[in-house]
Amino acid sequence: MSAPILPTRNLTYGGDWNPDQWPKETVAEDIELMKEAGVNLVSLGIFSWVKLEPKPGEYNFGWLREIMDQCHEAGIYVDLATPTAAPPVWMVRSHPEMLPVNKDGVRLGFGSRQHFCPSSREYRKRSRAIAAALANEFKDHPALVMWHVNNEYACHNPRCYCDVCEGDFQEWLREKYGDIETLNHAWNTHFWSQEYSDFSEIFPPRTMPTLPNSAQELDYWRFSDSQTLKLFQAEAAELRAVTPNVPVTTNFMGEFMYLDYRKWAPHIDMISDDSYPDPALPGAGHQVAFEADIMRGLKGGQPFLLMEQVTSAVQWRPQNTPKRPGQFELWSLSRVAHGADGIMQFQWRQSPGGAEMFHGGMVNHAGKKSRWWNEVVKLGESLSKLSPVVGGRVEAQAAIVMDWDSARARHLTAGPNDSPQDFPGVRAWHRTLWEKNIALDLIGVEDDLSGYKIIIVPELFIDYPEFSARLQDAVENGAHVVVASPSGVVTSTLRAILGGYLGSLSDLLGVAVTDHALHAPDAHSWARPDYNQVDPRVDRITRAVDTPGAVDYHDLEVRSPALLRALDQIGTPRPQPRGGVWGEYVMATKEADQFTDPMWLIDEVEVIAQFAPESDLGGWPAITKRKVGKGTAWYVATNLDSVGRDALIRLLAAHARVDVTGADLPDGIERVKRGDVTFYLNHSDRAVQLAGVTGFDLLSQAEATGHAVIAPRSAMAIMAK
Ligand code: GLA
Ligand code: ZN
Repeated sequence: MSAPILPTRNLTYGGDWNPDQWPKETVAEDIELMKEAGVNLVSLGIFSWVKLEPKPGEYNFGWLREIMDQCHEAGIYVDLATPTAAPPVWMVRSHPEMLPVNKDGVRLGFGSRQHFCPSSREYRKRSRAIAAALANEFKDHPALVMWHVNNEYACHNPRCYCDVCEGDFQEWLREKYGDIETLNHAWNTHFWSQEYSDFSEIFPPRTMPTLPNSAQELDYWRFSDSQTLKLFQAEAAELRAVTPNVPVTTNFMGEFMYLDYRKWAPHIDMISDDSYPDPALPGAGHQVAFEADIMRGLKGGQPFLLMEQVTSAVQWRPQNTPKRPGQFELWSLSRVAHGADGIMQFQWRQSPGGAEMFHGGMVNHAGKKSRWWNEVVKLGESLSKLSPVVGGRVEAQAAIVMDWDSARARHLTAGPNDSPQDFPGVRAWHRTLWEKNIALDLIGVEDDLSGYKIIIVPELFIDYPEFSARLQDAVENGAHVVVASPSGVVTSTLRAILGGYLGSLSDLLGVAVTDHALHAPDAHSWARPDYNQVDPRVDRITRAVDTPGAVDYHDLEVRSPALLRALDQIGTPRPQPRGGVWGEYVMATKEADQFTDPMWLIDEVEVIAQFAPESDLGGWPAITKRKVGKGTAWYVATNLDSVGRDALIRLLAAHARVDVTGADLPDGIERVKRGDVTFYLNHSDRAVQLAGVTGFDLLSQAEATGHAVIAPRSAMAIMAK
C-alpha cells in the first residue's frame, strides 16, 4: 500500500479551480456546489502567476490564502500549483529573449501560455523564486496536501531553437560524448560532409534544405526533454526544501512522446495524468485503460492520480463530441480500477471567455441546469464509497514493454515508412490483451521481468543488449515472449545494426532480419494519377505489371496446427490473420550465410506462419517460435492484425497457463481486479446479466448473490468477503 493522498484516506475528487478569475459571489457559490458534489480536492493557481506576482518580486498571496482558508473550512484539500506555465507579460516585456523560438527561427509571441524557452535563465530564476515564495507562504497551511508543478510540461513548447538553447545543446553533447570524434561516429557525420571539429560548431536541427541527420534530431529531442526536466527539478527542489513531506507532482499526458516519462517518474512523488479520449471513437474506452496502465507502470505499480479529464466535451478538436450519458462515471471508475487514487477534472467551472470557453467543466455555463451536473454529483457519491481501493494494487501476469526512446527513434528515422508520434505497436498489443481481459503491466526496458509469464516486446526499435540478456533469462526461467517488428533496428545513437537486424535479440529468437519489405500504398507526392491508373484496353505494358506493394497488408499462411486451432476458436469459418504494411525477410541465424529455401525448420526455430505468395515475401517466415529453456520466444515479422494477435495470445496464454476466463464475459464487459475489489465495467448500451458474482457491491451498497445485472455504461465494484 502506498500513502493515500488525503488524510481522510478517501479517493480524491475535484478539479482545477480558478477562483481568481471570478467575482466573490461565484466563489461562495462554488464552495457550496463543491460540497454538494462531494469535492474534496482542488488544484489551485495553475495559471495565476500575474495575480500572485503582479510586479517583479512583489508577491500578492492574500487572495490565495483567503481561498485556501475557505477550502479548509469546507473540508476541501488543496493541490497547490506553481503558476509557471503562464509567465506574466512584464517578464516577457523586460526579457523578450525568454520567448521560445521555433524551428524556422520565429520567436513565438505572448497571448497564450507556455511561452518560455526551457533554457531561459530569466525564466529559470523567476520560476524557482515563485516556487520558493509559495512554499514559504503556505508551508503550514492545513489544506495543502500536494504540489502541482507547472502544467503539462512541453505540451506547447517541447523544443526551442534559440541561441541559448544552441549553447546549452553543445554543452549537453560535450557531456554526453566527451570528445568530438565520438559524436562524429555516433551521428555518422561522415555522410554529407557533416563532420565537426569542435562541439561549438554544432547547430540545433533548425529548418534545413532537406532531411536532417536523424541522430542529431533524436539528441535534440533528448536534450530538450532534459532541459525541461531540469526546470521541474529546480522548482521541486525549492518546494521540497521547505515542505519535505508534501508530495510533488506534475501532470503528464499519457503516451506523450516529447518527454520520456519513464525518466521523469523517479523524480516525481505522485504520478498524475491528463486524459482526453475522444468519445466519438469506439476505441475510446480502451484508451482510458491504456493510459491508466501507462501511468500505473511508471512507478512499479504505484497508484496514480487522474489530474484532468473533461466531464462532457473538449473544445480543441476540430469536432468535439460529448461523452455519452454515464460515460463520465464509467471511464472514471475504469481509471480507479486500473490504479487511480483520485479523479480530477479540468476544470471546476467552465470559462466565461477565452480560448477554453467551450471546454466543459464540472459546472457548465448553464450551472446546475446543465445535464452534466447530475453526473458530477453522482460520481462524487460513487467515489466516496470506494475508499477500500485506495492504495490497492493491480496484479498482472503479463507485461508489454514500452520504450519512449524507441518510439522517438522510429519516428525520427527517415524510412522505411513514416511512423506516427505514437506507440502503434504497444497500443495494438495492449488492445488485444484488454479485449481478452488479461491484466497487464506496461513496463520499461530497465524494469524487472521476473514474475511475468507473458512478455510482449512490440516495436523495440533500439537494440538494448542488456535488456536482451535479461529477456533471455526470463524465457529460460519459463516466460513466453513475443517480439514484434520493427525491433532491434538501430543502436541508441541511431546507427544501423549491421549484420542482421534484431541485433542482440537474435540469439534468443533464433532468427535475424536481413531486409525490410514494406507494402507502401499512398506513396506520398509521387502517387500521381498517371502512375497509378491503368487503362487495360490500351496500356499494353503497364497492364501486365503487378504491384503487390499497392495494398496495405500482407496476407499470411498459417503452418502451425496449434495456431490453426486457435483461429478456429475465434469463429467459423476460420478467420484468416493478416499482417499490415510492415514485412521483413527473416532468416534463421544459424543458416544466415547459406540461406536457400525459406520453408525451413532449423534447430528449435519453428515457422508458425509465412507470408502468402501474393507478395514477393511469399513463403518467407512471418511468425516464428523457438523453445528456450522452460519458455518460448516468438518473433512476428509484420504488424499483425487483431485476429492474428488474438490467436497468438490464445496460444501464449495456454502455454503460460494465464487465466483467460475474462474473455468469456458477455460483450462489452471489462473486469479488473484491484486489491480486494473486482470492478465490472459495462461499456455497452445494453443491460448485462452476469452469473457468479458474489460479494458486496460498494457502489450500490448491496450484496451480490450470484446473479447480477449491470445497467448500460455503468459499473459494479465487488468487495470480496
Ligand atoms: C490540458 C491543460 C488544461 C486545459 C485542458 C483542456 O490538459 O492542462 O489547462 O487546457 O488541456 O483539455
Ligand atoms: Zn531557447
